[in-house]
Amino acid sequence: MMKGIRLRAPASLDNLTYVELPDAGEPKAGEIRVKLMASSLNYHDYAVVAGMIPTQDGRIPMSDGAGVVEAVGEGVVDFQVGDLVVSLFFPDWHDGAASSSAFTRVPGDGMDGYARQSVTVPAHYFTHAPTGYNAAQAATLTCAGVTAWRALFVDGNVRPGSTVLIQGSGGVSIFALQLAKMAGATVIATSSSDEKLERLRAMGADHLINYREQAAWGVKALDYTGGRGVDHVVEIGGAGTLDQSMVATRVGGHIALIGVLAGFAGPVQTAMLMAKNLRVQGLTVGSRQHQLDMIAAINANGLKPVVDCHFALADLAGAFSHQISGRHFGKIVVDIA
Ligand SMILES: NC(=O)c1ccc[n+]([C@@H]2O[C@H](COP(=O)([O-])OP(=O)(O)OC[C@H]3O[C@@H](n4cnc5c(N)ncnc54)[C@H](OP(=O)(O)O)[C@@H]3O)[C@@H](O)[C@H]2O)c1
Repeated sequence: MMKGIRLRAPASLDNLTYVELPDAGEPKAGEIRVKLMASSLNYHDYAVVAGMIPTQDGRIPMSDGAGVVEAVGEGVVDFQVGDLVVSLFFPDWHDGAASSSAFTRVPGDGMDGYARQSVTVPAHYFTHAPTGYNAAQAATLTCAGVTAWRALFVDGNVRPGSTVLIQGSGGVSIFALQLAKMAGATVIATSSSDEKLERLRAMGADHLINYREQAAWGVKALDYTGGRGVDHVVEIGGAGTLDQSMVATRVGGHIALIGVLAGFAGPVQTAMLMAKNLRVQGLTVGSRQHQLDMIAAINANGLKPVVDCHFALADLAGAFSHQISGRHFGKIVVDIA
């Protein structure tokens, strides 16, 4: 037997139960068994455990998982026992355009996830972790890292000299800051907290805006670009922030529509969208190939994720409470002993 978390119906933090689970079992042909050592929190995971995204009674939550390969099945050539590996958000999306069915099997949501000590799955559900990472660092990449990567370098074309606007200091936004600076971009960062803004400055953010104090932060961002506008926005607010993002963006610029922290629906200034020739591109994380490309870039540049704090697996509810308090900066990690 092993330990893990099951989400009981109706979904809520109070119904995250720390239980005994059956062992993961020996890997069959094409499978690996991974001793999971860490997971990390995303808003998506919170939406599942809080009942905003429906799932089945007894679901094992958490989309992100990292650990060490314990056993390999026949025919597995990409992994060896002892390799540090990290999970995929969409295990069935390998490369190219996704089929809609690939979106239905997200670990922790459409299938059991990684809030447990061990898992046996097809080998392609994981990739190697970056060189020199520990499990906690690797576990931050699956959702937040790949999302930021795709926003900037797959759907966006960030290059040295581009200007990128990030919103807040959560998981996706801090990865976007690090990746944009790695590529030689100028970054305009917003936050609700002056203290967090100073931390963003220390990480390389070039211009800072407190969005609580400056409701018209899009105008301020426009000013920072000399009136031209930013090339890319990493839009994690959604309905409540899109207007200001459109104000901030240059003619022909790109807004990566990622999040819902400021609302799920709302009126859109369609005339401004048209007049500025903006491209608003919705996205959901990315493919296995996107993760491999991001890890190659991390290996070449030495990027290390920002881990805010650690919680034990048994206290997963405490980790989510910390997340929804908004006090975190970067990623919250769950250690799986
Ligand atoms: N589409 C996708 O593939 C995808 C993938 C990953 C995440 N997401 C979405 O992206 C969003 C962020 O996810 P995450 O995991 O990075 O969350 P997170 O780590 O919990 O980030 C929360 C932070 O966002 C900032 N924030 C909250 N409301 C804001 C607002 N109105 N304006 C600007 N910043 C605001 C705050 O930063 P400060 O404290 O600095 O103000 C807050 O601490 C969520 O909606 C999530 O569902 C989508």
